[in-house]
Amino acid sequence: MSSDKPTFSTETLALVNRIIARYPEGRQKSALLPVLHLAQSEFGGWLSPATMDYVASLLSIKPIEVYEVATFYSMYNTEPVGNCLIEVCQTGPCWLRGSDDIVEHLEKKLGIKNGETTADGMFTLKTVECLGSCGTAPMLQCGAEYYENLTPEKAEELVDKLRASGQRSSYMKSARV
Ligand code: FES
Repeated sequence: MSSDKPTFSTETLALVNRIIARYPEGRQKSALLPVLHLAQSEFGGWLSPATMDYVASLLSIKPIEVYEVATFYSMYNTEPVGNCLIEVCQTGPCWLRGSDDIVEHLEKKLGIKNGETTADGMFTLKTVECLGSCGTAPMLQCGAEYYENLTPEKAEELVDKLRASGQRSSYMKSARV
């Protein structure tokens, strides 16, 4: 599907309309977060300006109201990402348990720096703040899945597994709908 003129599939649009219908007339903006999750999932893992404009039109709000939310929360990507977005938690508990080491090994394994995407478009590596799984630190998220109690070796094995699967990470399960 072209990112120039994004349009939800019939199935997703029905879901979007059900979410919007939860709120009183004139309060469609309340549906913004879950609709952005759905948009990100359906349109390649990120929110292009065209996608954000489309969401704004669906919710009858101004595009700027979508932009300010999409750029505030780290779970929304406003730049293209690889098929697998690897998000390593770097907050206190994960940091104390070696998240820096995990990132360093992943950078070497992938041949990229934090924030970059591999040349084949397969992986993007990103550090994020607490993902609410501190008891199993250090951890990372890829798509809707959490990978916990990591070691550098386990993180590298995960890359091999994801590469072998060749699939785009699914975000649908993380769409809070
Ligand atoms: Fe890493 Fe909370 S500090 S999940």
